[in-house]
Amino acid sequence: MIQSTLNERKALHVALIMDGNGRWATRKGLPRTAGHRAGLKSARRIIEVAPALGVRTLTLFAFSSDNWRRPAEEVKLLMSLARTYLHQERQSLIERGVRLSVIGRRDRLPAGLVDEIETTERSTAKGCSLHLRIALDYSSRDAIIRAAAALAGDALPSQDQFGHLVSATAGIAEATDVDLMIRSGGEKRLSDFLLWESAYAELWFTDKMWPDFGPDDFRTALAEFHRRERRYGGLASVA
Ligand code: IPE
Ligand code: IPE
Ligand code: MG
Repeated sequence: MIQSTLNERKALHVALIMDGNGRWATRKGLPRTAGHRAGLKSARRIIEVAPALGVRTLTLFAFSSDNWRRPAEEVKLLMSLARTYLHQERQSLIERGVRLSVIGRRDRLPAGLVDEIETTERSTAKGCSLHLRIALDYSSRDAIIRAAAALAGDALPSQDQFGHLVSATAGIAEATDVDLMIRSGGEKRLSDFLLWESAYAELWFTDKMWPDFGPDDFRTALAEFHRRERRYGGLASVA
């Protein structure tokens, strides 16, 4: 294999299922909410190192549409952490050239959070060092159903055309195939995250709980990703 520097490599889309906050806290005798606060710190660290590691798009699973099933207090804390994060981090995202988008439904989110999302999306729109996508009230099946409904009655689209509809962010169509899908917390499942976009994603799982996941784990996952051969149904390439 020809060794290339990170910069020469393709700009990557990495998706992260940040799982294990609750168990991390419970094991320490802390309330689950303490796990979510610690998890936010982990997320900040990963966002910081991502651009230097060749990651151009980073999609973080922060709250799934199924997470509404959790106790109201936990849901409230998660919504409030998201709001505070956007508010506090906005200026720093702009300075670092990070473009922020939120994917998922907005009609069930608290109005104050939706305001922060819209302001942050607008003010970071020109950022081009990293596209940070945060999934909130996100269900991949829901996104696929909406794309199908938008097409109802039309001729069958190409996979690219349909993919643009599935991964449309706030009305802006984007092709966002995932290169590497990482899940912390020991479970080996996708939990309705980016199903369409991960058709050929490389999967990487770790038993570490999300608050313990650091830049070194991220580097390890990326290093393994670069050692894998992606064949897309074809044959192994000849060196
Ligand atoms: C992931 O951690 C964060 C969210 C789902 C919001 P969990 O809260 O699922 O943590 P565990 O899986 O219960 O440990
Ligand atoms: C997936 O984790 C969602 C997020 C990390 C936000 P869950 O903890 O909700 O997933 P399951 O219930 O273990 O599948
Ligand atoms: Mg979990």
